[in-house]
Amino acid sequence: MTPGELSPAEYDRFRSFIQKTAGISLSPGRRRTFERKIARRMKEIGVSTFGAYYRLVTDEDGADERARMLELVAIGQTSFFRGDRQFSFVAENLIPEILEKKPVKKRLRFWSAGCSLGQEPYSIAMLVAEKTRAVAAVDAKILATDINEESLRTASRGEYPKAVEEQVPSLYLSRYFKPIKGPSGGYRVRPRLRKLVVFRRLNLLQAPYPMAGPLDGVWLRNVMIYFSQEDKRRILREMHRLLAPGGFLCLGGSESLLGLDDRFSLIRHAVYRKVDA
Ligand SMILES: C[S@@+](CC[C@H](N)C(=O)[O-])C[C@H]1O[C@@H](n2cnc3c(N)ncnc32)[C@H](O)[C@@H]1O
Repeated sequence: MTPGELSPAEYDRFRSFIQKTAGISLSPGRRRTFERKIARRMKEIGVSTFGAYYRLVTDEDGADERARMLELVAIGQTSFFRGDRQFSFVAENLIPEILEKKPVKKRLRFWSAGCSLGQEPYSIAMLVAEKTRAVAAVDAKILATDINEESLRTASRGEYPKAVEEQVPSLYLSRYFKPIKGPSGGYRVRPRLRKLVVFRRLNLLQAPYPMAGPLDGVWLRNVMIYFSQEDKRRILREMHRLLAPGGFLCLGGSESLLGLDDRFSLIRHAVYRKVDA
């Protein structure tokens, strides 16, 4: 059964809800695209009218489906070394500083929260591998989580199209990727990089998170756009709890913690450090 056409009035209702809860503005001209995406999702979960789907996502208990809907309307875009100046800053300044402070047991723990198709955690893993090459006995792990299981499956396979050549420096490409044989080409993450990353499903809206920390750094980039101010504060409280003293938090290039949580201090554009209370 198809739900028929999404009327302009129904679309407006969804638009203002999405604007209010996630700060995402959908233009009036996107009605048909929105209708198509939502209708496909409704079919998957057996909801037959747009009205019923609206009730589901606006319900107090509808956090999971709300996140799913936001995922469909927002751009799940990512790339290797996205925001590469931030990655260089972390590699050149923060990772060496953390390693220096751990004189004996060098245990590094990072988290890519909202990891999408895996490019972000594998980029972190490459930096960590590079920075720890000369350091004996480093136990490093990158936890990579997302709400979207399909993205996690793709991420976990670690196979990427040939276009990664444009995102990954050629030295890293040869060190950490193996060309896939066959006409379409592409690359597969090598096992020694893959084993640094642990993929898990985690909905950031479901706090407290099932881990103990302490974490040395968290990448929470381009994911908070999905959440209300209150949800953002709750998520940041969890990040604060899980970070080690002095641990860092990276946001997306257009994001900031202004007015959200003052227990983090800005150390560089979109990079924060936990202020110990
Ligand atoms: C735009 S991508 C960002 C990817 C990466 N962090 C980056 O900046 O390149 C946003 C990701 O957040 C995930 N996401 C959305 N809502 C979420 C939630 N409630 N919990 C966990 N992940 C969520 C989406 O599935 C998507 O993969």
